[in-house]
Amino acid sequence: MTKQRLEIEKSNQQKPKPESDQIPFGSVFTDHMFVMDYDSAKGWYDPRIVPYEPLTLDPAAMIFHYGQTVFEGLKAYRGEGDRILLFRPEQNFARLNRSSERLSIPPINEEEVMDHLRELISLEKDWVPETKGTSLYIRPFIIATEPNLAVAPSKTYKLMIILSPVGSYFTGGLRPVTINVEDQFTRAVKGGTGMAKTAGNYSAAYQAQAKASQEGGAEVLWLDGVEKRFIEEVGSMNIFFKINGEVITPELSGSILKGITRMSIIELLQDWGIPVTERKISIDELYQAYEEGIVEEVFGTGTAAVISPVGEFNWLGKKMVINNHQIGDLSQKLYDTITGIQRGEVTDSYEWTVEVI
Ligand code: COI
Repeated sequence: MTKQRLEIEKSNQQKPKPESDQIPFGSVFTDHMFVMDYDSAKGWYDPRIVPYEPLTLDPAAMIFHYGQTVFEGLKAYRGEGDRILLFRPEQNFARLNRSSERLSIPPINEEEVMDHLRELISLEKDWVPETKGTSLYIRPFIIATEPNLAVAPSKTYKLMIILSPVGSYFTGGLRPVTINVEDQFTRAVKGGTGMAKTAGNYSAAYQAQAKASQEGGAEVLWLDGVEKRFIEEVGSMNIFFKINGEVITPELSGSILKGITRMSIIELLQDWGIPVTERKISIDELYQAYEEGIVEEVFGTGTAAVISPVGEFNWLGKKMVINNHQIGDLSQKLYDTITGIQRGEVTDSYEWTVEVI
């Protein structure tokens, strides 16, 4: 397939660039965005970079009615010598296509869109912040645009990439949080859309999140939807437990998102000779291990936060305090290594980083 020509329309206005370590996550956007359209006759066509602006969509556009949409999240980091680095971006585009398949959205050409992303970031390079802990968050997403209320896949779509300078996901930095084990709501079930990055998985979590906040928790621990026993995810992150020297993370059951940070942590631990197992782990097993005093560390992992240590679980009125509310040594080492590789400060022997410019 021949590569399509990218049109670039430059904005004649430049927005002020705020201090990224002070802005709430995802609330400021750069001057340009990438757009590409799809229809069944032409396939994906008309790739372009245009000034960031609101969209005009028909009120009957299918995205509004049946939620046919997928998204990704990755970051660009400013390393030494003003190099701009991406972390395993090919994994994000591969996952975007896996999510699309689940939502009956036509696949994109991953390499081609990756090239367009490079162009977009080159144009917006001054927006990539410098301070440690900051980055330019990249949000590719696809929406169904056909104006039609039929319950069927759309015949037209829009792929867009928008960019947002961000500081630390959690204000206050790496700090162990309290987690409510959710016993009523379910995030996803095997056979559902849990393995896809699609909007409904996130909005369906808000009610449980609000309940957790009311009860003093920062996030929700999701259990499997069938038996309400097996641990799946924490908030919008994957989860890891260090129990008696072994690191355990729930196996990818079909309802769990295959996180890129999760994947990288498993590879790092294997390399460091730390036993790491992907398997089912139930909340009862965790509680029993806690009572035996062998739960050493627990942390969530995701692109936005990288590592988020868990300080405490609340489960049916029972409390489990993890590592005395302190960040564990392994959590800290993983955080330092991954963020170091991302910024080009730690040798990337895995070839995970991709230099944009
Ligand atoms: C991530 O950290 O990877 C997430 O999924 C959070 C994002 C939706 C803001």
